[in-house]
Amino acid sequence: MEIRRVGVVGCGLMGSGIVEVAARTGYDVVVREVNDDLLGAGIARIERSMRRGVERGKLAATEVDAARARIRGTTALRDLGDADLIVEAVIEQMEPKKEVFRDMDVLCPPRTLFASNTSSLSITEMASVTKRAERFVGMHFFNPVPVMKLVELIRGFQTSEETMATARAFAESVGKTVVVCKDSPGFIVNLLLVPYLLDAVRALELGIATKEDIDTAVHLGLAHPMGPLTLLDYVGIDTTYYIAEAMFDEFKDPRYAAPPLMRKMVLAGFHGRKTGRGFYGYALSAGQGSD
Ligand code: 3HC
Repeated sequence: MEIRRVGVVGCGLMGSGIVEVAARTGYDVVVREVNDDLLGAGIARIERSMRRGVERGKLAATEVDAARARIRGTTALRDLGDADLIVEAVIEQMEPKKEVFRDMDVLCPPRTLFASNTSSLSITEMASVTKRAERFVGMHFFNPVPVMKLVELIRGFQTSEETMATARAFAESVGKTVVVCKDSPGFIVNLLLVPYLLDAVRALELGIATKEDIDTAVHLGLAHPMGPLTLLDYVGIDTTYYIAEAMFDEFKDPRYAAPPLMRKMVLAGFHGRKTGRGFYGYALSAGQGSD
């Protein structure tokens, strides 16, 4: 099956990145947010990222205009009804995701492929609310999407070989390398990453070192591009908290239990870079300040 038009549900950190890479590689993209403010903030994030791409010599200014012209924003899910592929990138919680897929299942013809950008939740469970479980797949991108080269493809219980092949072709066409994984919480990357990030928060809670020294230790001692607390701010403390909860629910293993400090930060709105405060403080650009 050929993908030409892509519908993205959610224009937050991940959704905006997915819209950007798809539009940059020639797809027509319709992106939906719940209100005009969030939509405006998401589109502004895409424009900022593309400008950064130009500054870094990754794309030409003319390509930015062409990519921007392929992106249409909307607050109505029905505007995604004629897409060949729907990529869902809403909050990392099962119920809101199921709600999106229940609605899209009615709005889209049976041939449309459904993909979730979930980082940890069950593809099989999401697919169960639709009548197209064989055309449903997990497609997990990494933040920042325009820079990170990986996509994890997750095979749900009923995902067909044809769906896997189409999803792989799409992910490769937007410049990503694909790895395939079973429908298991956290898939490959978060299965390994989340316990490490939670341990870094525990180390801070225990007073083992300052946040700066924990980050510097990993950055310089292990040559990671970012220390764990900076990375938590980058991907979202709330998002990581929800991922940890989903993994703890499944495995009942204390390695995946989110430390109390993280829970308090989520409740207090310290979600990281996107809200201007997390382990560190950040200046917000115009239109930023919400998840
Ligand atoms: N489009 C294309 N390329 C871009 C770009 C854009 N909009 N913006 C930047 N780039 C390129 C730059 O040209 C540069 O490429 P080069 O190395 O070939 O020159 C590269 O991306 C790095 O960009 P910068 O130099 O501007 O930025 P930094 O060097 O400060 O790196 C970073 C920023 C890429 C975020 C780096 O710190 C990093 O890799 N951090 C770790 C990110 C990470 O681990 N992400 C995964 C998180 S886990 C996840 O997402 C899963 C989820 O489920 C939680």
